[in-house]
Amino acid sequence: MSNSRTPDGLCAGRVVVVTGAGRGLGRAHALAFAAEGARVVVNDLGVARDGAGSSTGPAQEVVAEIRANGGEAVAHGGDIATTDGAASLVAAALDAFGRLDTLVNNAGFLRDRMLVNLDEDDWDAVMRVHLKGHFLPLRHAAAHWRAEAKAGRRPDARVVNTSSGAGLLGSVGQGNYSAAKAGVLGLTLVAAAELAGYGVQVNAIAPAARTRMTEQAFAAAMAAPDGPDAFDAMAPENVSPLVVWLGSAASAGVTGRVFEAEGGRITVMDGWRPGPTADISARWSPSAAGEATRALLAASAPPLPAYGSR
Ligand SMILES: NC(=O)c1ccc[n+]([C@@H]2O[C@H](COP(=O)([O-])OP(=O)(O)OC[C@H]3O[C@@H](n4cnc5c(N)ncnc54)[C@H](O)[C@@H]3O)[C@@H](O)[C@H]2O)c1
Repeated sequence: MSNSRTPDGLCAGRVVVVTGAGRGLGRAHALAFAAEGARVVVNDLGVARDGAGSSTGPAQEVVAEIRANGGEAVAHGGDIATTDGAASLVAAALDAFGRLDTLVNNAGFLRDRMLVNLDEDDWDAVMRVHLKGHFLPLRHAAAHWRAEAKAGRRPDARVVNTSSGAGLLGSVGQGNYSAAKAGVLGLTLVAAAELAGYGVQVNAIAPAARTRMTEQAFAAAMAAPDGPDAFDAMAPENVSPLVVWLGSAASAGVTGRVFEAEGGRITVMDGWRPGPTADISARWSPSAAGEATRALLAASAPPLPAYGSR
């Protein structure tokens, strides 16, 4: 796929913010949005794999790449899990380009441990970067869009949140990350319902791709193919087309949905919905509740296993 800019592309005229866009999936999304004509705010704090440190280098490199392709972009080096970082991110879009149309929440890092060894600090850091790091940019972008709607300029705005298979099914050794990414799904449903009246659509993806987050832990599954002509299914660029479409005006009417995206496959993830049910219109005794529950379980599909479970 060429990243050179399409002036009349799917996102021509739109201003798109991507968090954590200095590397991996966020970088691929930023380049893909720019290739479809969007002006892009490239946010990245430039942290290490475990969230330590910071550097403005990764965001600036992606901005340089977009500009070299003929696109427009600015860098933002703030921490999206802080009020200052999130507010200044929205302000950066408005200052540089005068508008904000799409927010892609993507930034994050891992601190994997089995639950019995998971330190409180590692719990807090991962919940903070993924869950608060989704909430705060969403909250500040939503306040802007609500003000626009109230001023008679109804937005055609989009938010794409980043969950994970870990949030959908659970993942052994990732209790903090799975809880945060499941939280992102709940936040997506609430935001879609609350913001619909202001012209804002909110969806979530659960991606899989070869980045520094996955290339060691899942080395075999993430490996690039041998032949130069073989489809490199785990390249992060394969996830971006769905994100660009969800972030464009073309996705009108699609909101509150969750999609898995990996390689050449897009899957709609059906959410919780009632399965077999029993109602005696009275209080159960514990043993009768147990007997009825066993019958209900026998009539329901077995759950999908958590990633990494035996
Ligand atoms: N790679 C996968 O297979 C996969 C699978 C499921 C979900 N995800 C999710 O996709 C997103 C992107 O992950 P990736 O695999 O590209 O990882 P990555 O480490 O390559 O990129 C994440 C980027 O986020 C930045 N970042 C971290 N904390 C930040 C903060 N507080 N403020 C601003 N930027 C910050 C990092 O500097 C980094 O450049 C993450 O939310 C991740 O959980 C990835």
